[in-house]
Amino acid sequence: VPTGPLKISELPPNNVGTSGESIHLSLVIPTYKERDNIQNVVSILSQLLDESIPGNYELIVVDDDSPDRTWEIAQSLTTEYPQLRVMRREQERGLSSAVIRGWQAATGSVLGVIDGDLQHPPEVLMQLLRSVEQGADLAVASRHVEGGGVSSWSVVRRLLSRGAQLLGLVILPGVLGRVSDPMSGYFMVRRSAIANATLNPVGYKILLEVIGRGKVDEVAEVGYVFCERKEGESKVTWKQYIDYIHHLVRLRLTGGNKKQKLTQQTGFPIGRFIRFGLVGLSGVFVDMTILYLLSDPTTLAWPLTRSKIMAGEIAILNNFLWNDAWTFADVSARQQEWHQRLKRFLKFNAICLAGLVLNVLVLNLVFNFLIPNRYIANFIAIAVATIWNFWINLKLSWRV
Ligand code: GDD
Ligand code: MN
Repeated sequence: VPTGPLKISELPPNNVGTSGESIHLSLVIPTYKERDNIQNVVSILSQLLDESIPGNYELIVVDDDSPDRTWEIAQSLTTEYPQLRVMRREQERGLSSAVIRGWQAATGSVLGVIDGDLQHPPEVLMQLLRSVEQGADLAVASRHVEGGGVSSWSVVRRLLSRGAQLLGLVILPGVLGRVSDPMSGYFMVRRSAIANATLNPVGYKILLEVIGRGKVDEVAEVGYVFCERKEGESKVTWKQYIDYIHHLVRLRLTGGNKKQKLTQQTGFPIGRFIRFGLVGLSGVFVDMTILYLLSDPTTLAWPLTRSKIMAGEIAILNNFLWNDAWTFADVSARQQEWHQRLKRFLKFNAICLAGLVLNVLVLNLVFNFLIPNRYIANFIAIAVATIWNFWINLKLSWRV
């Protein structure tokens, strides 16, 4: 087990193998209490890799001295699977540091990680590897791109997962904005992209650290469905959520390589914000006009609520079209397919509806507790909702 700073060397520790070349892929499998899974995982992964890159990979199980003796079972498998190595950590603890310790001992030029409980489908492995071979510095298996998903998560866990992601976007847009699934624990990275960076992981989310401190230029994503656990249980508790927030704040304060800072955080996008605001104004006119046409007694004389829903929805559509064609023209030029547009529209729609709720909420709060003037209160409420709409759409719908 490597000790000292959590830093990956540029060259593998024992670079000269028998053939004179280093191994291609080193895949770390962190385990804690996975005795009922380990045999299966090792055999499935070995079979897959033996078919695709025989002899050119290694599996590294990093076990934190599991009380169920996972390490012992893993060790006993090494005779049958010569590409398997096992590390038993007796001092350090934690998922992220386990992964890094594994990579430190790794000889590969591509470093990967996969869970030891079969929740990450092994079929995705070769797609990830191919992405790196084709030039990506980082290839992430993602639940949030095409082909991705979660099999049967409860609404609560879905919400927590998305909430954590949203929070991350607010605290650390330069890191979280780069991948659709920043919580993924299934990915591969080029050794050179993280070599010499001191990784300082808190808790569970090693990917944040890799993006935040590595030199990751090109990112690829591959969709995957997060399967149900068959054996054993998840180690995620409330502590992991606290660790995650701690990690974000820490990366924000200390992290990030310079280049990324320059290209990613060029300050508040004021030009976009002004365009977004103007589009918003156009939406007000659309809303008013439709409301008049539908509800006025001299025209259609529909009931007010029905008219307003219609008017609001058409205004949202109006705003979306203008924003997509003008405010975020650069982004939509890169993603022109109709299903990509539809997806942006659905997100925009949902975010605007949430903005409307926020608007009403802020109006009531300000009016009742701060400033008993309904017009000033309304102005503040509109400002807050506009900033919300702009920022969240910027990060989620158009992903700038
Ligand atoms: N060595 C070591 N030390 N391994 C650990 C530790 C630890 O402290 N805690 C967990 N592991 C291992 C588990 O044995 C498993 O192989 C893997 O790390 C993931 O842990 P789970 O407890 O099964 O996590 P999960 O299924 O809830 O979360 C997974 O999905 C997330 C996506 O939302 C993990 O892959 C996360 O990394 C991923 O972000
Ligand atoms: Mn799991």
